[in-house]
Parts: sequence; structure tokens; C-alpha cells
Amino acid sequence: MQDQICYDNYKNSADWLQSRTKHRPKVAIICGSGLGHLANALESQDAFPYSDIPGFPHCTAPGHAGRLVFGVLRGKSCVCMQGRFHMFEGHSLYKVTFPVRVFKLLGVETLIVTNAAGSLASSYKTGDIMIIRDHINIPGLGGFNPLNGPNDERFGPRFPVMGAAYDKDLRRLAWDLGKKLAISDHVQEGVYCMVGGPNFETIAEARLLQRLGVDAVGMSTVPEVLIASHCGMKVFGLSLITNKVAMDYEDQQVVTQEEVLAVSRKKSHTLQTIIMELVAHLGSS
Ligand code: 6GU
Repeated sequence: MQDQICYDNYKNSADWLQSRTKHRPKVAIICGSGLGHLANALESQDAFPYSDIPGFPHCTAPGHAGRLVFGVLRGKSCVCMQGRFHMFEGHSLYKVTFPVRVFKLLGVETLIVTNAAGSLASSYKTGDIMIIRDHINIPGLGGFNPLNGPNDERFGPRFPVMGAAYDKDLRRLAWDLGKKLAISDHVQEGVYCMVGGPNFETIAEARLLQRLGVDAVGMSTVPEVLIASHCGMKVFGLSLITNKVAMDYEDQQVVTQEEVLAVSRKKSHTLQTIIMELVAHLGSS
């Protein structure tokens, strides 16, 4: 049974939050696995556990705290998801993306998404940061799309275009910031692919994705981007490359959740620096 997609549910949640915080953010940030530390950098925080917010699902994935944090980052009001929802947790895509439409009703104009991902591009190194240029939505191609069902025109059109979902100016700005921070050697730009998970890829699947032009693969992000883009938000995305995907039967590298979290925690500082600089420049670029 599909959950009821209902404007009033998003509105109810947005009203609940607005009556409990004075912050009126124009920027929302979704923190991926092991990347939730960013939320701790917000000043004048108002934090809400997901379990308290009407309509929000509960968060079960490792490395995800499960709080919505409002606050000020580099002088800009932001709202930060410390932990996201995944399809593999058993949530419908309506639930996975529920917060994004709540953000829209809160007045958010820009969505920043982050994730931990495995790399298929041979030139990428563990610890690199990939600016997401475009995506391939494997569940979407198979009919699992958060935009399925009746379309509410108050959010956006029935048939949204996705050719420019990842904002070009923000991608350019991120490159400039990478140069300024002297980390260009560790910055890449490429195609993110969402798979359903929760298992990592087989060797044959990894080879297939590489042939399709995928640079990095993960189990998240795309549903939120679709919903944000549909309702006219600007989107910027970063993948932290936590491991190289095994492409060979002889390959002894076995990816584990622990390894993914360890790399993302170690490198989260660099990713945070880029995001904080980007937020500081938003609206003034
Ligand atoms: Cl190798 N695969 C997938 N699907 N997600 C990941 C990953 C790999 N590494 C981090 N996240």
C-alpha cells in the first residue's frame, strides 16, 4: 500500500517546526553516512529528534543520528538533516523524501546533499570528494520513483525535466573553493548512481555500472534530489569516496559498512569545509 501523498501532511510538519524555531532557513543540508558532524557546527541550534516531528519516519541506518537541526552556518540560516532515510530500511520513497517537501514549505531554496559512495572511476582515490554532475537512478528506471502517484501541482509539474538537476553555478563555485582550499587534487566531478542496496554490488553489477558511465555508486540521494528539483529547488551534491568498488573476481578488497564509516568520519572535515564555504558564498556568487 502506498502512503497517502497529501499536501496537508507536509504542511502540518512545517507548521509544527515553525512554531518551535525562529530560524527561517533558505538552505537545507542532508548529511550522509558518517557526515552528520556538520550539524554540530551550526550556531544557535534548535534540534528535533525525527521521532518527535509529525510525519517524519524513524531513522535506523548506522552512522545516522536521526535529528533535524536548525541553526546558523557562516552567517546563513540552515536546516540540517543529521541522518537520512533510505529505501533499504523499508521506507516508501514518499517517506524517504518527506523532509524535502517540508523544507520547501519552510522556504528552503537550495538543497545540499551528501553521501558516502564507492568509486568505479579508475582515477578516483579513497577519500576523494566527487561533485555530483548528474545521476543514474537504477530504482527509478525500474519504476521506483518518489514522484509516482497523483501529482500535486503546488509542488511541480507532472513530467519534470531532469537535464540540469545539479546546479551548474554551484558546481563551478565548488571547484573554485577546492582550488582556494588547495584540495583540487582530491576533488572530482562525475556521475552518481543510486542502487537499492542494502547489499553491495556483485562483480558483474560493478562492471555493468562502470560500462554505463557511473563514477560513484551508493544507496541514497537520488530520491531527495528528484523531489527537490521537481519543486524548483537548486541542488548541489557531494559524494565522499569511501572505497573503490571491487571489479575483479581476484580482487581481495571487501567493502564493509565499518570501512565506509571510518573513511567518511576521517574525511568529513574536508567535506564540511567545502560545504561551509559554499553556504557562505550562496546568494552572493
Ligand atoms: Cl561499494 N556500493 C554501494 N552501493 N554503496 C556504497 C558503496 C558501495 N560504498 C559506499 N557506499
